[in-house]
Amino acid sequence: MNLSQFRKEQELAVQEELGRLIASLDIPAGLKESMNYSLQAGGKRIRPILLLAVIAEKGLHIPEAIKVACAVEMIHTYSLIHDDLPCMDDDDLRRGMPTNHKVFGEATAVLAGDALLTYSFGLIARLGGIRGEDRLLLIDLLSTAAGAEGMVGGQLLDMEGEERALTIGELEQVHRMKTGALLTFSAVAGAILAGCRDEEMRHYTDFGRHLGLAFQIQDDILDVTGSSEELGKTAGKDAASDKSTYPGLLTLEGAREKLGYHSRAAKEALEKLDGPHPLLEQLTDLIAQRTH
Ligand code: IPE
Ligand code: IPE
Ligand code: MG
Ligand code: MG
Ligand code: MG
Repeated sequence: MNLSQFRKEQELAVQEELGRLIASLDIPAGLKESMNYSLQAGGKRIRPILLLAVIAEKGLHIPEAIKVACAVEMIHTYSLIHDDLPCMDDDDLRRGMPTNHKVFGEATAVLAGDALLTYSFGLIARLGGIRGEDRLLLIDLLSTAAGAEGMVGGQLLDMEGEERALTIGELEQVHRMKTGALLTFSAVAGAILAGCRDEEMRHYTDFGRHLGLAFQIQDDILDVTGSSEELGKTAGKDAASDKSTYPGLLTLEGAREKLGYHSRAAKEALEKLDGPHPLLEQLTDLIAQRTH
């Protein structure tokens, strides 16, 4: 199976499903517009594609899986809206467009983020055709990945990394939490929906952890080497705000070595699973080699 074909199909499916899900809500128009603005601005949809690729590679078709994929994308999009606020990274450009708070104001941006976060849990609670215990497990794991033990906690530590240079061990922990946790959840959620258990689940978890670290290391590298046009967000922002990053602590070459290590380790985890995994292997390469 070819990843670029799979991505094209699934990106469109996710885009349309996100549109339908938000359209179905009877909510204040200003909130709906702000939520839609950031969700429809584009983005690579890596997390939904990862989740759906795990299922596709098992040869399964699970119609409701796209809703879990959308739930993760909503939480990711909320994290970006809040990450860009003046009290955090203070960014004006996101996904090639003005940031949410620039268009709708800070209060609406905060609330649109809150609304995307909370909606995602209801979406999973209401999934049809998925066993009740699997729905509960997904909600449990997603709340851990997105919350204080995951993304939210990582974002706090990330801000502390502007005040002082973190050690590489501390920075790895920041990256595991702020970015790795949601990517790991995406792989694991696909595996849960596909009915995987025990050892198989441990390999998917391992895969997701290495992939998540590789993803954020490349994000740090691109902040140095990419342009704002390519990235759709302001390049050079990390150095300008004195943020602790992989290239900052290890140089670009050292950061690339770490990236190589984690993408190899991700592939090694895949090799422990039965059968070939062309989509997940190509996705690992894409994450390491991406230019935006
Ligand atoms: C950016 O994530 C923020 C990080 C966690 C590194 P992405 O690079 O996935 O952003 P989009 O979704 O493509 O805009
Ligand atoms: C953001 O990390 C991680 C999130 C949880 C949103 P960054 O601050 O490095 O993401 P970008 O570079 O603004 O996309
Ligand atoms: Mg940030
Ligand atoms: Mg940022
Ligand atoms: Mg960044």
